[in-house]
Amino acid sequence: MQNSPKRFTITAALPYTNGPVHIGHLAGVYVPADIYARFQRIQGKDVAFVCGSDEHGVPITIKAKKEGITPQQVVDKYHAIIKQSFQDFGISFDNYSRTSAKVHHDTASDFFKKLYEDGKFIEQTTEQFYDKEANQFLADRFILGTCPKCGYEESYGDQCENCGTSHNATDLINPKSSITGNTPSLKETKHWFLPLDQYEPWLKEWIVEGHKKDWKSNVYGQCKSWIDDGLRPRAVTRDLDWGIPVPIEGADGKVLYVWFDAPIGYISATKEWAEKEGKDWEPYWKDKDTKLLHFIGKDNIVFHCIIFPSMLKADGTYILPNNVPANEFLNLEGNKISTSKNWAVWLHEYLEDFPNQQDVLRYVLTANAPETKDNDFTWADFQARNNNELVAIFGNFINRVVVLTNKYYDGIVPTHSDFSETDVATLKTLQESPALIEESLERYRFREAQSRMMNVARLGNKYLADEEPWKTFKTDEERTKTVLFVSLQIASALAVLCEPFLPFTSEKLKSILCHSELDSESSWKDVSTKDILIPSAHQIGKAELLFSKIEEEQMQQQLDKLAATKKTNEMMNASPDPQKDTIQFDDFTKLDMRVGTILEAKKMPKTKKLLVLKVDTGIDVRTIVSGIAESFTPEEVIGKKVTVLVNLAPRALRGVESEGMILMTETSEGKLVFLNPDQAGDLDIANGATIN
Ligand code: 2FM
Ligand code: ZN
Repeated sequence: MQNSPKRFTITAALPYTNGPVHIGHLAGVYVPADIYARFQRIQGKDVAFVCGSDEHGVPITIKAKKEGITPQQVVDKYHAIIKQSFQDFGISFDNYSRTSAKVHHDTASDFFKKLYEDGKFIEQTTEQFYDKEANQFLADRFILGTCPKCGYEESYGDQCENCGTSHNATDLINPKSSITGNTPSLKETKHWFLPLDQYEPWLKEWIVEGHKKDWKSNVYGQCKSWIDDGLRPRAVTRDLDWGIPVPIEGADGKVLYVWFDAPIGYISATKEWAEKEGKDWEPYWKDKDTKLLHFIGKDNIVFHCIIFPSMLKADGTYILPNNVPANEFLNLEGNKISTSKNWAVWLHEYLEDFPNQQDVLRYVLTANAPETKDNDFTWADFQARNNNELVAIFGNFINRVVVLTNKYYDGIVPTHSDFSETDVATLKTLQESPALIEESLERYRFREAQSRMMNVARLGNKYLADEEPWKTFKTDEERTKTVLFVSLQIASALAVLCEPFLPFTSEKLKSILCHSELDSESSWKDVSTKDILIPSAHQIGKAELLFSKIEEEQMQQQLDKLAATKKTNEMMNASPDPQKDTIQFDDFTKLDMRVGTILEAKKMPKTKKLLVLKVDTGIDVRTIVSGIAESFTPEEVIGKKVTVLVNLAPRALRGVESEGMILMTETSEGKLVFLNPDQAGDLDIANGATIN
């Protein structure tokens, strides 16, 4: 059945509601999910494409603490921003819900209760980390420590962001509270565990044997390695005050683990949608003729391939995912995208800088999608793909066809005469293109699919360049009409085929070609089956630019913005060296520091770092060798007032005796600066003045 399912339930990871969404989110999850959902809808399939805000869990609580507001205020603020961004970028969810919705609290509570009543959990009192100063248990992101698997020192309690391993908090080496930095103590507490070990044989059969061929190798590989390592029971409840209360007696102060409730959010979102639409939600989750697909990032694989399926299996009435096409990560200009470090291109900010250019970003993110390995987003690539591909190929082809049709035939599709061999071959290639795109999409190869769609624009561009209707117009009227007729068929096909990838462009192009005025609007299938998509005598509209060139200046602005972020981060992250051992006052008075003036400066031959200085210390004029040549030229330092440690034992550097030390500090970018007595402004401080 899964080759031609009756319906599709397509889920996209619920984003944590602790910040806006950025290009990494779009590239990894939401654009591919949207392309797939749009593609199936265009094919006339029954689709439920659902998502929503993940509003529980420690990340929200941490953000609330940081901003001095309540967790509810945090999720209300970001839910609105995220929802708007998805809408702005044409992510065509049938429903974008939120896990604070009543329907979700009810659905998740009922799900838990059923498993509890069916005896699917183990109830166990164990010792969990506790922060005495903060007076709370330390679940998930409240605890940091070294990952027992890869050695990453900043692993969270439930998952290591570096290697993706999901573990129990007590497995961490050198655990530390992320609230106070204290080493936690252990305290007994009761929790409910899903015994994943009992699902191991079934998971082996379902994934290791059943999905070796059709799941992406990154997804399959991760799952296999976890299963091979052996699965252990996982707690599905937490001692926290933000989340869905555990819906049974004797569980006061406990909530469902966010990774237990969040994936159930897909079900709640489907229910909410079905209710609005007057549909039954159950077939979308329980009918074997439904294809269930989870679009996620690689850090979510274990939850969607092992834990959530085990929950569904434990319930027993649900279908399982047919595929989980997880992507790797997108970096930005060589560095990992990070919400907390503000190293990201935020979608709402992108739209301020590039209004109405959603499709450009969608296009670039798909062209460079991290499908099989982490990839890098650079503004240079963004500009090149826009200018050299969207403008020069797609936009140029459409513009020429529409302008010429208007110029020669007042915008009326001309009648063709006999087709040449080239025309026949071109139309045949056009008819074959939907199947090629489909093949890529069915294998979740979105880069390839988009590039095959662009090949249709390339086909049109080449056809026009070879046939040169602007030349034949003067010599061969019939040929010119035929060439423009064929070109208009390609343009019309492109309007249909680009829809999953470039929905805004598709709409604009359909409007330019007046598709809605056609007797029957061309469908995806028509492109491969119909000889004529846009008939003779059909009136099209005027030319409008689909894409516009992005200038160097705009790119520089984006790079400057990132450079400013980098600078801010460096300043915030500069961690001071630890304080040295205590000294006595007498020790301090042994240091003889004086104000001096640099009189001469020369580079020490054959070194990069050293300058040989002559310094007037007020006591004498002496030679000091200083390692400042990478920060200053000799000319820059002559005449500078400096602080000199004059009673440092002399030592020879490259054969030159240095009689003292000039006191310096360093900027966050590593440039040296003098501790400068010139700060006294107009007041004159004599050389030799002591510093204490
Ligand atoms: O990684 C994340 O952003 C999670 N909030 C994803 C949750 S997906 C799901 F299960 F809801
Ligand atoms: Zn790790």
